Amino acid sequence: MEIPFTRPYFRGNEGEAVAEAIASGWVSQGPRVRAFEQAFAQRVGAADAVATTNCTTALQLALYVSGVGPGDEVIVPSLSFIATANAVWQNGGTPVFADVDPLTGNLDAASAERAITPRTKAIMPVHQLGLPADMDPLIELARERELEIVEDAACAIGARYRSRPIGSLGPLACFSLHPRKVITTGEGGMIAVQDPEVAERLRQLRQHAMDVSDVARHAARDVVIERYPERGWNCRMTDMQAALGLTQLELLDEILAERTRVAERYTAALEHIPYLSAPYEPEYAERTWQSYSVHLAPSAPISRNELMRRLLHEGVPTRRGVMAIHLEPAYAGLDVDLPHTEMLTSETLMLPLFPGMTDEQQDYVIDCVSSHVSALAA
Ligand SMILES: Cc1ncc(COP(=O)(O)O)c(C=O)c1O
Repeated sequence: MEIPFTRPYFRGNEGEAVAEAIASGWVSQGPRVRAFEQAFAQRVGAADAVATTNCTTALQLALYVSGVGPGDEVIVPSLSFIATANAVWQNGGTPVFADVDPLTGNLDAASAERAITPRTKAIMPVHQLGLPADMDPLIELARERELEIVEDAACAIGARYRSRPIGSLGPLACFSLHPRKVITTGEGGMIAVQDPEVAERLRQLRQHAMDVSDVARHAARDVVIERYPERGWNCRMTDMQAALGLTQLELLDEILAERTRVAERYTAALEHIPYLSAPYEPEYAERTWQSYSVHLAPSAPISRNELMRRLLHEGVPTRRGVMAIHLEPAYAGLDVDLPHTEMLTSETLMLPLFPGMTDEQQDYVIDCVSSHVSALAA
């Protein structure tokens, strides 16, 4: 049997929605982007939302409006996709790596505090794989030390922290709409924003900082001569993507429920497989199951990479656990001590998970995993 690792979930009416955008003539950023932003903001409990080309540019813009620039340091977990650190670098800043909690894999406030220097400007918690970071201590730390907070919520649409949706907690939270995420626009990003003035500035910055949007100019009855009060970028989403995004938002609850169903089946099965443990579930979080990451005990009779190799040969693709950015050549040579990050990156792997995964497909994955780990243990 060949199992996909992941697969976006569509209902079948998406082509029609995208075709309507094309027929309307609005194929770049237009009214559908605005409608998507409003629906997204409402869904995540934010005052407003600003669409971008992807989550990396969303993070870049969010850090920029938080004042991060050359010479500034931003504390980030190393246990994250490399985009988390790259967004800091793209602003001319320096990512400073802190360690994560060994159970949740999310930024640890005590480690973040130890990483603060006089140059620290911001803290960037990541809600890794859709599990909310423990935000209260991080928000408190930022308040005490007068630091900005930008959340990397790439995987976390639909997640809740202490009953509050991710996107409603801090001033700026950035989501990804890449196909490996929970909902997708092909490529895309969204910044959930609480301050309307900041939202307005972000809207300008993503369009070369032009002070008039295309929609406003199109509707104007008089000639509009635009101005550029500052320098900006081009991070515009297209209306075709937004049309797709609107259909995906309608499916979000269904997708979240499906992902939870599959994840819970894995968790139940893992209880019977030695050496493997299910993801930890802190009491403060209601997670989005963007990925299902399992921990393989180092005492297991098979290494993580060998297990992945054997599974792949049986038609079960897996992925390594979340990367450790400081171990990649791009960020090598730093004098950092991140034991929890290094443990988690080497001892975890992700199993296939997607909405619509059948019991038969999942049982095959579970049987393959179990046969390799348990048989060798016998
Ligand atoms: C934690 C995290 N941050 C940022 C990104 C970047 O998202 P995008 O591909 O939309 O730029 C990802 C994507 O995998 C991610 O997992």
